[in-house]
Amino acid sequence: MTLLREHDLGTPAEAGPATIELEIDGLAVTVPEGTSIMHAAGLAGIDVPKLCATDSLAAFGSCRLCLVEIDGRRGTPASCTTPVEAGMRVLTQTPRLAKLRRSVMELYISDHPLDCLTCAANGDCELQDMAGAVGLREVRYGYAGENHLDAAKDESNPYFTFDGSKCIVCSRCVRACEEIQGTFALTIAGRGFDSRVAAGAGDFLGSECVSCGACVQACPTATLEEKTVIKLGVPRRSVITTCAYCGVGCSFKAELRGDEVVRMVPYKHGGANEGHSCVKGRFAWGYATHKERVLTPMVREAITDAWRAVSWEEAISYTAGRLRSIQARHGKNAIGGITSSRCTNEEVFVVQKMVRAAFGNNNVDTCARVCHSPTGFGLKQTFGTSAGTQDFRSVDSCDVIAVIGANPTEAHPVFASRMKRRLRKGAKLIVIDPRRTEIVRSPHIEADYHLQLHPGTNVAVVNALAHVVVTEDLVDHEFVAERCEPDDFNRWAAFISAPEYSPEATEEITGVPAADLRAAARLYATGGNAAIYYGLGVTEHSQGSTMVMGLANLAMATGNIGRQGVGVNPLRGQNNVQGSCDMGSFPHEFPGYRHVSDDTVRHMFEEVWGRPLDSEPGLRIPNMFDGAVEGTFKALYVQGEDIAQSDPNTHHVQAALASLELCVVQDLFLNETAKFAHVFLPGTSFLEKDGTFTNAERRINRVRPVMAPRNGKQEWQVVCELATAMGYPMGYGTSSEIMDEIARTTPSFGGVSFAKLDALGSVQWPCNEAAPSGTPIMHIDKFARGKGRFVETPFIPTDERTNRRFPLILTTGRILSQYNVGAQTRRTENVAWHREDLLEMHPYDAEERGVVEGGWVTLASRSGETELRAHLTDRVPQGVVYTTFHHPVTGANVVTTEYSDWATNCPEYKVTAVQVRARVHATGARKSPSIPPDPVHADVPVLS
Ligand code: SF4
Ligand code: SF4
Ligand code: SF4
Ligand code: FES
Repeated sequence: MTLLREHDLGTPAEAGPATIELEIDGLAVTVPEGTSIMHAAGLAGIDVPKLCATDSLAAFGSCRLCLVEIDGRRGTPASCTTPVEAGMRVLTQTPRLAKLRRSVMELYISDHPLDCLTCAANGDCELQDMAGAVGLREVRYGYAGENHLDAAKDESNPYFTFDGSKCIVCSRCVRACEEIQGTFALTIAGRGFDSRVAAGAGDFLGSECVSCGACVQACPTATLEEKTVIKLGVPRRSVITTCAYCGVGCSFKAELRGDEVVRMVPYKHGGANEGHSCVKGRFAWGYATHKERVLTPMVREAITDAWRAVSWEEAISYTAGRLRSIQARHGKNAIGGITSSRCTNEEVFVVQKMVRAAFGNNNVDTCARVCHSPTGFGLKQTFGTSAGTQDFRSVDSCDVIAVIGANPTEAHPVFASRMKRRLRKGAKLIVIDPRRTEIVRSPHIEADYHLQLHPGTNVAVVNALAHVVVTEDLVDHEFVAERCEPDDFNRWAAFISAPEYSPEATEEITGVPAADLRAAARLYATGGNAAIYYGLGVTEHSQGSTMVMGLANLAMATGNIGRQGVGVNPLRGQNNVQGSCDMGSFPHEFPGYRHVSDDTVRHMFEEVWGRPLDSEPGLRIPNMFDGAVEGTFKALYVQGEDIAQSDPNTHHVQAALASLELCVVQDLFLNETAKFAHVFLPGTSFLEKDGTFTNAERRINRVRPVMAPRNGKQEWQVVCELATAMGYPMGYGTSSEIMDEIARTTPSFGGVSFAKLDALGSVQWPCNEAAPSGTPIMHIDKFARGKGRFVETPFIPTDERTNRRFPLILTTGRILSQYNVGAQTRRTENVAWHREDLLEMHPYDAEERGVVEGGWVTLASRSGETELRAHLTDRVPQGVVYTTFHHPVTGANVVTTEYSDWATNCPEYKVTAVQVRARVHATGARKSPSIPPDPVHADVPVLS
């Protein structure tokens, strides 16, 4: 358990090497140069009263409560804005200061409702605390004069309220929105007595606010307050855990009353987020107790039968019996499993172990197949490790940031805020994306270059960038000579220098003006520390792996690897994509990315697991689907993934699922895949899980149970019981014993244990004898594979082409308030922001087709068609349309194709040739989409 409110030192810490010695209230204090007197005093255990200061924000100096006396100086300077000086002698408590502070507080309180006893923040209010701290006992001024007690309330935001009558105009909220979040949604409107906080011209919901909650956290009064606190009361205890949404992996304090979560507060000491969060992690956790959650195991003989609730014992013996029977009739390779990047490392580890040891094959794959499998392949080939190279902190040292095929503001919001802070301080920005994402132009940020390429031409663009680097001799020859394979480099340099890869030669293919491309390449190569951050816009292509290797080539050629501020960084989509890959979820790899044909490794696992293991790689997800349709693959266990909605070419996936003799789904809700299931095993939400997630920076974070599993079991226990029922005894006392086995068998996790994570907060792998505290930056002195390897990356256009029938290119992405297939976020108030998937379309393309803003359109490809409403915007260029895939009713994957990455089968979600037609009656309700309606929508509002 953790203290509810952490010690606040008032101003941010300084980290410079020079130190200053001074005396505060008679105590000798030594602090870094630039430290404020308030912060120095706090470090010495002396809390100076304050209201406008908090250590997450730069000092502001408006409330005048933190006054101090300094020997030899006139007046009473504010301690938050006065830096320490050598030999200073400071007094923080004198009768004169006490009197001044009481006067200040008296003025505040005289314009504040005296309803502490009934206020939601009673006991958790800094104003209340400060009144006590300065000894205010009476207020001499009455309420007869002008005041703000009738100021209006704004309750428009679904998660928090703004009560203007309680505002002390300290600006902490405004500064949090600017400095921490970078949205600049708030201002102080009016002057003097009329000053007030304003969210644009209207209310919070209608403003630019993205509901990150930073202002709520910064507010020292109950002006900005979570609605759950108002409803349930101030929390009494807290547990530190990790967000279960995106790959940023934010740490939170889950704050509770009894067993009920009251609010989630981003944890100040969280390694990935340092006290910040987005709307999903902070507010969208209500799905965990949603009434549609299934808590009892269910079985049925056929998918046309009704579900029958059964005991855990019956569900497990029924499943094991049917799996064994299928293997007896169709062979051991007729069954397999899919692991989930939403589950913990421990839960994933036991599933792949069950498949390998109990099923007796390697038919295990993961949902990372459809997102970042090219990252694993491409970075392993070039650097030797299937992971990003940096920690998030590294972006603070960047001079040039290249954002490629990623939309961090929507998909990785907390990291985006950090990146934006660096950009506002002057780092240069290159964005490579067909769409004008928010980061291209946002408050105080404008990309230096936005290379708006045609979808599907990534490799042509990265080759042209590398062509400029090599032919203009911008190569870091010293780095290449010392750190990379010379023959590979020479071959690659000759390959990339060919005239066909010049920006001028590729301009027509890519749509990127050659001059812009040359300028961007020069900036990346010569602008100082240059870092690449990329997302699914890089990987989800037929040349996804080639593009990842192209990025690695570019970084090595310019020496942008192996120190702070540089690197090649995949922005992982789901909370545990990195971990699920690390844990051996791929059919050809044991945990730690070791090939199943490696005899030494396999024999080691055989010894530890006590079973002979298959040396042949098993089936990938698309192979399982093909096998099911062909009749050779008969049973599938699916851990926490909605493949019927998330995988491409829905019709094919549905046909495969419908062909299975047994489909087992382990999840929170009856999702689209469960429509094809014979066994439903209830899963646990992140509030119940006990284990670890590994985020995009390889950081292993603890996921601690905040409440007992509502279904009665941890998911790993269910898997162990199933394996045992199949004849392979598997069991652990606790999830930490699973991590101990991971550490024993996986060198990069050799030094990881729950005890170490509890002691250090988190560690980034590799964490072993050589790096007992983990490895924030990789490849510092040498690459994991020894020498870096340049790989030739010829551009091969996708087979998916536009034609007269399908003249537009569809590309897909995410939106901030929703998450993947929306199973969680659609069951929260986040639907206030995104009730349906929309089709973004350039006004010119729309006009040609008679499509109007908000009108229904039919979106068709050669795979299928669906219907959704149009939003006209020049964010997308002519010829390109864009949509999100969060709502099953849209069924965006009905139209995506089966084309995939040549190396990993990662689907080509980002390029689909489509046609868009306006519906004749462009208003009214949606026509029946290609997949059956989801019962979930019964109580989730959908615009019509
Ligand atoms: S919730 Fe976040 S974005 Fe909205 S006003 Fe507050 S700080 Fe700004
Ligand atoms: S809303 Fe809160 S943080 Fe913002 S100015 Fe008012 S009291 Fe300060
Ligand atoms: S940025 Fe990602 S990990 Fe952090 S709170 Fe938001 S969804 Fe959760
Ligand atoms: S805390 Fe220093 S002026 Fe407000």
